[in-house]
Amino acid sequence: MKLNFIVYGAGAIGTTLAAYLHQTGLDYALYARPKKALAIGQQAQSIIRDGQTVVDGVTLNVIDTLSQQTDATHIIITVKNYHLEQACKQIKKSLPNDITVVGLQNGVTNQTVLPRYFSKAIYGIAFYNVWQQQPGIWGHKDHGPLLLGRPNQGVDTEVQQLATTLAKALPCETSDQFQDEVHGKLISNLSNSVTTLIGNSHLQSDALKPLQKIFTALSYEGVKLLQAAGFRQAKHSTLPPWLLVRISSYLPDFILRPMFRKKIALIGSTSMAQDIIDKGSKDSELDSINGYLLELAEQTQVSTPMAKKIYQLCQQQFKQEPFTAMTAQQLWRQLQA
Ligand SMILES: NC(=O)c1ccc[n+]([C@@H]2O[C@H](COP(=O)([O-])OP(=O)(O)OC[C@H]3O[C@@H](n4cnc5c(N)ncnc54)[C@H](OP(=O)(O)O)[C@@H]3O)[C@@H](O)[C@H]2O)c1
Repeated sequence: MKLNFIVYGAGAIGTTLAAYLHQTGLDYALYARPKKALAIGQQAQSIIRDGQTVVDGVTLNVIDTLSQQTDATHIIITVKNYHLEQACKQIKKSLPNDITVVGLQNGVTNQTVLPRYFSKAIYGIAFYNVWQQQPGIWGHKDHGPLLLGRPNQGVDTEVQQLATTLAKALPCETSDQFQDEVHGKLISNLSNSVTTLIGNSHLQSDALKPLQKIFTALSYEGVKLLQAAGFRQAKHSTLPPWLLVRISSYLPDFILRPMFRKKIALIGSTSMAQDIIDKGSKDSELDSINGYLLELAEQTQVSTPMAKKIYQLCQQQFKQEPFTAMTAQQLWRQLQA
């Protein structure tokens, strides 16, 4: 069967995915609300990946209604978790029931939302970082592939066919350890709230020492939590190997500093930072990432004091009008208070 995609949501993940599909010659339409559809459709889109232009000025096939897309086999939903329910309602109303939905949100919220609306759902984890540099120009930092799977299930032919098709456009793989992968990614995503609190100043040299302390503590708490909840170390995780995470919490920081420096250089602007800093929005995925992990910690009775303080601080700071970032040193001092 030939696959025909609707990409729902023209943000960072959606527009870049559409541009990769376009460049590969796959059938797709990028769905956006009317004003955004007009803006994206009128401007050529480029992607700069790790410093190189990999998509150079393509004009995307953008749509602002769904009901005419009856040939679509898959709808890839790229809205944030807090818009997911609304997106599902609209898709359900506009498209045939047998369409396969693919949810690319970080975390596990989509695993409870999508099955309430659709009978066929596939999930994806983007192990890469994309963001808008300026209108029509998207940055892309590679950490790994787009990973597809279904929670607690092996990889069936439908997931495999989707991955094989998408792999023509961008690195795409499947996983039969999907829940382990999602949860490992959630722990890595805790760093999004930290880099947002400090206004994306993580690449400044004086941020290195305090951030190493914070990230080491968060990773250690995270690994303890995942183990207590019965998850296993996953292949694509951007977390260091769990044994190293455990050891590093006992080692003097300077020993692992060169490794940490390299790791932090890989962090671009995250989608949480784009919500809070760039868009000045009060909506963020704080609850579906940090909040979910804290609930898991409560259920498994694992102590996660650093994650809890960061969550509380984000709740407080993200509400501020306007949002004011702190430095990494100020953050470290507040976390110790
Ligand atoms: N960006 C990354 O590097 C990255 C990496 C891994 C995972 N993720 C995950 O991927 C998901 C998407 O992230 P993102 O960074 O692409 O977010 P984003 O840039 O905010 O894009 C989401 C898009 O969805 C659109 N949208 C929301 N509701 C809509 C509706 N009812 N109709 C049409 N469009 C709608 C939004 O439009 P408006 O702007 O008009 O509201 C926005 O353009 C998140 O769960 C994120 O955690 C992102």
